[in-house]
Amino acid sequence: MKKTLFLAAEEAGKILLENFNKDFIIESKDTISNLVTEIDKKSESKIIEIIKNNFPDDSILSEEIGSIDASSNCKWIIDPIDGTINYAHGIPLSCISIGIEKSGEIIMGLVYNPMSGEKFFAEKGKGAYLNENKISVTKENNLRKALLVTGFPYDSSRNPNKPVDVFGRFVMLDIPIRRLGSAALDLCWTACGRFDGFWEYNLNAWDTAAGFLILKEAGGLVTDFLGKEYSVYNKEILATNGLLHEDILKIIQNKE
Ligand code: IPD
Ligand code: CA
Ligand code: CA
Repeated sequence: MKKTLFLAAEEAGKILLENFNKDFIIESKDTISNLVTEIDKKSESKIIEIIKNNFPDDSILSEEIGSIDASSNCKWIIDPIDGTINYAHGIPLSCISIGIEKSGEIIMGLVYNPMSGEKFFAEKGKGAYLNENKISVTKENNLRKALLVTGFPYDSSRNPNKPVDVFGRFVMLDIPIRRLGSAALDLCWTACGRFDGFWEYNLNAWDTAAGFLILKEAGGLVTDFLGKEYSVYNKEILATNGLLHEDILKIIQNKE
């Protein structure tokens, strides 16, 4: 399974690399800013072809084509390019994200940015890795010294949770925040200690399936915005080093 996971991501990675900064078709999806490129579709087809060749009975949930249900208890959850807007603009902050769910639990995940050569991998109970090196979250326990990362949903202007107001509350506390444009990388960069925490509204299972396991295996904590256990089918995610979780949660909930 691990071999197929790596093969699928590496073959898709070649497609992303070959086409990076080249001309390709870009279309809008449900909103004008939610893009899909020809390369998302090529990457997705390659990944699914490799999975189906090796595990024909497994189910698939993939961003552009949706669900392919099959008989086994395993589901491959795929984002063929996370950070499509970055990719379409020639910004090398995008990745392929593949998580494997078995009987409702994520057991393996790989996030690969072919432009940087970074592969983040985790298997349940076996730790998290960046290429060959074991990774772990930071030990920062002072929010004023933290570096956070977030993302904004494509419907921010209409989103009832007012994500920009939440962002504003952190900014008004003079806490530095980044916005990379790839939720999967946000999770992995928190897992390897570049960030201390990440939150976002309105994500989908393919954005977080792999990164969620990688962050947890790196010692992080992941919940929804009520502080309850996170599932990749939750829309809201707060992922931190654990030590800052409560402090960040209070600001999101506007309880400070
Ligand atoms: C998007 C990225 C982005 C996040 C969006 C996602 P896509 O995925 O993860 O960081 O803010 O909510 O939809 O569209 O590039 O696969
Ligand atoms: Ca995505
Ligand atoms: Ca995508």
